[in-house]
Amino acid sequence: MQEKPKQDKQPQENQTQENHAWSGRFNEPVAELVKRYTASVEFDQRLALFDIQGSLAHAQMLAACNIISAQDLTDIRHGLGKIENEVLSGEFVWSVDLEDVHLNIEKRLTTLVGDAGKRLHTGRSRNDQVATDVRLYLRHAIDELTLLIGSLQTALVDLAALHTQTIMPGFTHLQVAQPVSFGHHLMAYYEMLKRDAERLRDCRKRVNRLPLGAAALAGTSYPIKREYVAELLNFEGVCENSLDAVSDRDFAIEFNAAAALIMTHLSRLSEELILWMSPRFGFIDIADRFCTGSSIMPQKKNPDVPELVRGKTGRVTGNLVALLTLMKGQPLAYNKDNQEDKEPLFDTVDTLIMTLRIYADMMGGITVKPEAMRNAALQGYATATDLADYLVKKGLPFRDAHEAVALAVRYAEQRGCDLADLKLDELQLFSKLVSDDIYAVLTLEGSLAARNHIGGTAPQQVEAAIARARKLLANKA
Ligand code: ARG
Repeated sequence: MQEKPKQDKQPQENQTQENHAWSGRFNEPVAELVKRYTASVEFDQRLALFDIQGSLAHAQMLAACNIISAQDLTDIRHGLGKIENEVLSGEFVWSVDLEDVHLNIEKRLTTLVGDAGKRLHTGRSRNDQVATDVRLYLRHAIDELTLLIGSLQTALVDLAALHTQTIMPGFTHLQVAQPVSFGHHLMAYYEMLKRDAERLRDCRKRVNRLPLGAAALAGTSYPIKREYVAELLNFEGVCENSLDAVSDRDFAIEFNAAAALIMTHLSRLSEELILWMSPRFGFIDIADRFCTGSSIMPQKKNPDVPELVRGKTGRVTGNLVALLTLMKGQPLAYNKDNQEDKEPLFDTVDTLIMTLRIYADMMGGITVKPEAMRNAALQGYATATDLADYLVKKGLPFRDAHEAVALAVRYAEQRGCDLADLKLDELQLFSKLVSDDIYAVLTLEGSLAARNHIGGTAPQQVEAAIARARKLLANKA
């Protein structure tokens, strides 16, 4: 978190009653409350380093196009270098009077280097400047998030690799359905995160376009070279319509949609961790460092981290709705509404970074209880489908097999035993096609091994999935 602006300790000339960047045409100063209401510096100061990066590229282009002198460029570089150090060391004093990050930096630059600082804004507006800053910020955030997703995937794959033969009940409707391996179950989340990383990579392409040069909305009358600035800032190209360039926030919305989906995936895993850790399941234990106790019930160990992840999904989805609502019905081009894009975006990035970091660690600290998983899989007739498939393979139509097995399940239920506990002559009550090779089919291991095709839960297939995942992860690292 960045510091709040230090309003009490104002520096040299940053202390202004008026915002001289635009107050020339005004007859009276802006009301104090309005000043605070319209200022964004409290939150947009975190864009400072990206603002400086953008300004350096803009100035270099201005000099290359002979719009400012080489000396001006030297002065601007020198001044911005100093400001960068001040920002990094926390010495830079932010002033609400100067409204936002852009005007704070510009004012300080002018204080430091004089007229060259005043020339920096030639051919540029804060409208294309802020859009550029946000894109630079988001591109950086996406790169960090992509790495963090990779770490979480690695943690999942590592745990899955230990459990390709650990059998648990697979559920549908939260009722025991068919046995699966715990490794197979974990690899489902690997796949979700793989799509999440793909979405971020795709979104990055549209983030990575340069608005600068659009100026306020219509372009600029100076002989600028936008492609040159794009190249200097490693953008893949320029935004091709100036009105769109200053008003577009699609990239932020897209990003937040991808982020909401990541959180949604993690909320599902969280819900499962919470269920599995409950003594009713007792499938896993989460390391103490991710849990907390109760102030009244001494026996409690609560899965706070997964619960909070589940909860924080709401705020990230809320941020998406905020951004969509912010843009709805906005006429072209830039409107001050757009200033409201930052807090939801920053909050989403912060939430996601922390969540992914903590999650990768937490998955590494999970204790698995294979016995409890196995016992649960033995209840609920998880191999009933295998019995039906067995009868089909012996020639019975599937619907008839389904019916025969349903009756066998009812029979076993009345006796309080599993299908595998029924004697051969008992099973034959439901179909003459049953012979003693049925018992291999009714075991949990047999059920898993039978699903031996790509995407299936057979240990061999899960091992292959893990190998494919490791290869992809290694390529990205
Ligand atoms: N602080 C503003 C924002 O975040 C910068 C752009 C302001 N432009 C303007 N014409 N008032 O959107």
